Amino acid sequence: MNMRTRVGIIGAGPAGLFLALLLTMEGIDVLVLESRSRAEIESTIRAGVLEQGTVDLMAEMGIDERMKRVGSVHHGIQLRFAGYNHRIDLYELTGGRAIMLYPQHEVIKDCVAALLNQGRQILFNVRDVQISGVSSHQPCIRLLHENEQVELHCDFIAGCDGFHGVSRAVIPAAQAKIFSRSYPFGWLGILMQAPPSTRELIYSYHERGFALVSTRSPELQRLYIQCDPHDDIANWPDDLILEELGARLVTKDDWQLHVGQVTQKGIVAMRSFVIEPMQYGRLFLAGDAAHIVPPTGAKGLNLAVADVRHLARALAVFYQQKQEDLLAAYSTTCLRRVWRAEHFSWWMTSMLHRFPGDDAFQQHIQLAQLEYTVSSRAAAMSLAENYAGLSFDW
Ligand code: FAD
Ligand code: PHB
Repeated sequence: MNMRTRVGIIGAGPAGLFLALLLTMEGIDVLVLESRSRAEIESTIRAGVLEQGTVDLMAEMGIDERMKRVGSVHHGIQLRFAGYNHRIDLYELTGGRAIMLYPQHEVIKDCVAALLNQGRQILFNVRDVQISGVSSHQPCIRLLHENEQVELHCDFIAGCDGFHGVSRAVIPAAQAKIFSRSYPFGWLGILMQAPPSTRELIYSYHERGFALVSTRSPELQRLYIQCDPHDDIANWPDDLILEELGARLVTKDDWQLHVGQVTQKGIVAMRSFVIEPMQYGRLFLAGDAAHIVPPTGAKGLNLAVADVRHLARALAVFYQQKQEDLLAAYSTTCLRRVWRAEHFSWWMTSMLHRFPGDDAFQQHIQLAQLEYTVSSRAAAMSLAENYAGLSFDW
């Protein structure tokens, strides 16, 4: 079967779905291809923190109704070390910016519903996706959908297929530079049925390793502990996870972690990764397909959204004014913000985690950095500005 669209979008994660909606708003025809099922993408547990800019964009796009109802606005975060909590007042330090706790899979549900309501098509469960012709003006995506071979002819291809997708590999090795760092630890994340133990997220530095207390709803907590990235989740019975959380979150006041049934658990590895440039011919990479950050700064989804906002504008200018300059500048424009987020995420990760072989000197350095961050208005302001998110025009 032969199909045609203006922009073929590979991947229905935050990058692909936001791009599809933004281009639809500009009257540009798109088709989204996704290798998983709708049920799967709408239930995969990942991010939780949305920056102010992402929240504002969702409002502009008219997809914020459920988020406003069930999401939770946080005006600050807590840094916990040496037994005490220190509040970073995001709202006050940034002149009125905040973050929204609203799970990524709920964002996905809102985007999918909005696209389908607007009569757009998403092909789920696609197989054997192959990209060709990106150096020409007639790129093509070949794929298998419901046992039928499909050839999708497009003007442009957006590679929004995440870190393990197929798009990035289309860029010849000689045309791209890759920058990466893997960390000697991962995060063990759980969902626990218990009311929140805290009104704001707690990032805890402890000699046993990092811990993070986040939330999903009034009945569900999201918690993480630093662990060996190669560890098997089978080595972590629920009791052991709760014991470790208790130890790493202990305070000198009477704070208590509310505990309940653990309903989900898993381990994710942590890495930093950037490919430059994020474009090759008529293929544009966006989101995790082009860059990865460790989750400590809560930046990945937000960066994906920032990329596709630029891409949608550049494509709109191309179609409406026949100008290619924004498209030509896409990679350079995005990479400035990408590297800012890479630095911030690396910095938060380095400050808060225990590294194998760390000695007492290293621990003092980390504690000195934490102490400075919570005591100096200038340092706290820098954390707040990055955490709540720089403006899209940064
Ligand atoms: P993805 O979400 O990976 O979407 C890519 C899609 O493409 C997937 O649906 C995949 O199935 C599909 N796909 C792959 N290959 C193909 C193919 N060949 N053909 C068709 N489709 C394909 N970010 C934040 O901003 N805030 C947070 O609080 C935060 N917390 C996080 C916590 C954890 C534990 C983790 C792991 C990540 C967190 N992130 C956070 C990062 C965030 O989840 C990702 O950065 C975000 O999902 C990237 O979106 P994306 O659309 O680029 O890629
Ligand atoms: C989450 O709620 O999943 C979460 C929160 C903050 C982070 C990462 C993940 O830095």
